[in-house]
Amino acid sequence: MAPHALEPNGAIHGSHHTAAGDVKTDPFTVDSPNVVYTDKDIKTRYTYHTTSVSQGANGNYIAKPKETVYDFKIERQVGKVGMMLVGWGGNNGSTVTAGIIANRRGLVWQTRQGPQAANYYGSVVMGSTMKLGTEAKTGKEINIPFHDVLPMVHPNDLVIGGWDISGMNLAKAMDRAGVLEPTLKDMVKKEMVNMKPLPSPYYPDFIAANQGDRADNVLEGSKACMAHVEKIRKDIRYVPCV
Ligand SMILES: NC(=O)c1ccc[n+]([C@@H]2O[C@H](COP(=O)([O-])OP(=O)(O)OC[C@H]3O[C@@H](n4cnc5c(N)ncnc54)[C@H](O)[C@@H]3O)[C@@H](O)[C@H]2O)c1
Repeated sequence: MAPHALEPNGAIHGSHHTAAGDVKTDPFTVDSPNVVYTDKDIKTRYTYHTTSVSQGANGNYIAKPKETVYDFKIERQVGKVGMMLVGWGGNNGSTVTAGIIANRRGLVWQTRQGPQAANYYGSVVMGSTMKLGTEAKTGKEINIPFHDVLPMVHPNDLVIGGWDISGMNLAKAMDRAGVLEPTLKDMVKKEMVNMKPLPSPYYPDFIAANQGDRADNVLEGSKACMAHVEKIRKDIRYVPCV
């Protein structure tokens, strides 16, 4: 535990208490005068060094070191996070939705190669690590999971929604995409059949011509007076929970 993380009264700042009263220790803390932990947040001062280049009167270059100071504040308590996808009923939207449901429910399904359990190996945040530094004593590289770097939402806890110019429900959209194994699709279908994308603005001159056939879930009105923008703003304020 970093020395500065200790309160004068001995309380540990680098840890938080769960509802059950257990203490959950942070995977790591930073020992620097530029990083301050409180129960609520992590405050960080970061100095970004760049080089500003200008040209002198006789054509020579003058390089001048530049410092920009940033103050970051990160809340330690992760709130409820909504993810709204534009084109929710597409290959990506339907596949990521099924993938999150499969992980949330810990599903295992049969494939030609044998049973397959849901995992997040394809996710940069969930499946990769970041080099934290080198252990002073041993010279060993220490890598930590990317999702432990800062307090962040677990994808299983995302509230999913979105828009699509095609009104097909997500179960049918998943069939249309043809990405997932039929055994997995059968397990998530019941939940996904109730997911229907919100209507979306459709401007044919902006969208590829081959999208026209599926445009049956289109926002009425025009883009005049920001009417569509206002509707999208309203959608974001009220996310139908999934
Ligand atoms: N699938 C991939 O492997 C991949 C890889 C890299 C990048 N991408 C990009 O990601 C995006 C989505 O890919 P995809 O494979 O899911 O494509 P997709 O064609 O299957 O899905 C796109 C979805 O967007 C919807 N759409 C079109 N216009 C819309 C609008 N105005 N408002 C709301 N929805 C609208 C369509 O109805 C469709 O369901 C594309 O831009 C694609 O180029 C895809």
